[in-house]
Amino acid sequence: MMPGRSAIPYGVLDQERTDREVAAARRLERIYHAGQERVWDGRGLLAELLEKHGGVHLDEPFAGAVGRVFSVIFWGELAAWQISVELAAQLDDIEAKMAATSQAHDEARHFYVLHDYLAALGHSPDQMPPRSARVLEEVLNARGLPHKLIGMQMMVEPMALTLFQSVREQKICPVLSEFLEYFERDEARHVALGINHLPALVNRMSVPARVELAAWQFRMVHREMGGLHELADDLRLLGLDPIEVLRLGQSKQLFVAELLTRELNWDVPVIGVINRSVEFRRALQYPGEGDHSDLPRALVRALHQAVLEPQVA
Ligand SMILES: [Fe+2]
Ligand SMILES: [Fe+2]
Repeated sequence: MMPGRSAIPYGVLDQERTDREVAAARRLERIYHAGQERVWDGRGLLAELLEKHGGVHLDEPFAGAVGRVFSVIFWGELAAWQISVELAAQLDDIEAKMAATSQAHDEARHFYVLHDYLAALGHSPDQMPPRSARVLEEVLNARGLPHKLIGMQMMVEPMALTLFQSVREQKICPVLSEFLEYFERDEARHVALGINHLPALVNRMSVPARVELAAWQFRMVHREMGGLHELADDLRLLGLDPIEVLRLGQSKQLFVAELLTRELNWDVPVIGVINRSVEFRRALQYPGEGDHSDLPRALVRALHQAVLEPQVA
């Protein structure tokens, strides 16, 4: 066989890397080890919480709303599992592979814990509402790994984190609130995988390919807003303001987009354009609700440190 044609990727050990890429690789490696140190037993935790709280006792309309919102999350967990397995298999960089492998293990756990929780609630997972389904389908069918990494780790997962945090703080169901804390810890590492590896992927792309990726992200931001709008009535039933959930989710997405443009040394107004278009759509979709002012940048700053330190996430 010709040198360099082996199916065994000997080249992974002598990749040339910039100082920034070396630093990102160290952070990706830490994501894997943090995943191992902070792994939790989903079956044991759920059994313990069900015993502690005497099962899941939610009356209507809350049970239906929790069931519908977490059915969407349930299918999202399966999609995240699928994407992380693809990334683990197809990424060339070893440290990113390690982080994606760790994520796949987490997502399998999230999937079965939610399955068992929905069973305890007495709610069979619903099929997804159409616009939410479209978001997941676009990410699963995206043409390239950078699209999948942006779509899942930097758009869907920050929005899932937002829903977890918002629902947990409402204290609707003690079992749910307690295990969502564990989900949030894991999801922060998954977002960190996107932040730390996307620059390496984007740096290897041509300028037209980067422009196409930015256009795809723009489209996905709006698809995701449409998906969240489908959940608005259920979020209100759970005592949540859909605009506040949207703002919190957007601030998390803005935070990851700002980190990315900083990593890439990009001086293009992508974020400004996305923000203005989102503000515009929000005013149209939720007329008379919310103040539609600038996104909360103080929260964005606070998040920078939390996600860049995956060992404490
Ligand atoms: Fe997950
Ligand atoms: Fe995740």
